[in-house]
Amino acid sequence: MLQQVNGHGSGSAAHSGESLREDLQELLGGEVPPQQLNDLTKVNPVTLETVLRCLQARYMADTFYTNAGCTLVAMNPFKPVPQLYSPELMREYHAASQPQTLKPHIFTVGEQTYRNVKSLIEPVNQSVVVSGESGAGKTWTSRCLMKFYAVVAASPTSWESHKVAERIEQRILNSNPVMEAFGNACTLRNSNSSRFGKFIQLQLNGAQQMTGAAVQTYLLEKTRVACQAPSERNFHIFYQIYKGAHAEERVRWRLPEGAAFSWLPHPERTLEEDCFEVTREAMLHLGIDAPTQNNIFQVRGKATPLTCGGGDGQPPS
Ligand SMILES: Nc1ncnc2c1ncn2[C@@H]1O[C@H](COP(=O)(O)OP(=O)(O)OP(=O)(O)O)[C@@H](O)[C@H]1O
Ligand SMILES: [Mg+2]
Repeated sequence: MLQQVNGHGSGSAAHSGESLREDLQELLGGEVPPQQLNDLTKVNPVTLETVLRCLQARYMADTFYTNAGCTLVAMNPFKPVPQLYSPELMREYHAASQPQTLKPHIFTVGEQTYRNVKSLIEPVNQSVVVSGESGAGKTWTSRCLMKFYAVVAASPTSWESHKVAERIEQRILNSNPVMEAFGNACTLRNSNSSRFGKFIQLQLNGAQQMTGAAVQTYLLEKTRVACQAPSERNFHIFYQIYKGAHAEERVRWRLPEGAAFSWLPHPERTLEEDCFEVTREAMLHLGIDAPTQNNIFQVRGKATPLTCGGGDGQPPS
């Protein structure tokens, strides 16, 4: 049975971390300290306990990526780690002669798949499957991969093609806030939980430069519009509109300031994801102009007549 230890903060936690490492080293009987074992297939014996303990020791040493053969295990640090995702680090993995010899990282996966496309005589499509339970960090990891490809697959020589690549790159990155506004919600497990699956395709030309992207979404949890579990919220977009609409839009969309809506539970919770301006801006960059945006928000405002608290409670048509 693993003992739960808080990896950050107090001195006693640091002390438990130390004893955990010693325990594990004894258990594994190896010379390599567990936090330095960067491939779980090297843990000997491979048991659930040794694998989990090894991951725990690495987590406590702020090492969040570990290989498991050709699979990468990513742990959610639950804190910002900016130095782990800097453009300099992306370039380091991109420039490395053997990226797999660097520390395990999502950029290794990105770089290896990019090289597989590049080095083969007949380019072969590459797929990366990101899986895990809710809150594990799938969306975060997909975003990191997209940012990585946007940087490494966008270095054309001429100024004109550089501009084109930059525009594509920006559009690809801007698809995230839009998809998340309409498809993510605050749940008990994750304040920005994706309530849909997605298949993202990044397209490269013969020179391995990014030329486009396609996103296919499936299994959107539509029932959430009308029914949310206790303590959970509706999709972010409703709160964005509710909190960020201009005075004139409020009148048009029948959204009086301060009104309570039965399908808008917990509006008092302020999330980073509640920013309407970010969604509008991202939609503009995707080529959705202001009148079209207005039509989209109006459809929501009119076809889903949110009832004030104590209203008829009928689901939207
Ligand atoms: N590598 C990371 N660095 C820093 N924070 C992270 C990282 N991975 C995840 N997080 C944090 O954890 C939160 C949850 O991660 P994320 O939304 O990616 O989970 P998910 O697997 O997509 O969950 P769901 O299935 O509910 O959509 C993020 O909003 C972010 O705050
Ligand atoms: Mg997600």
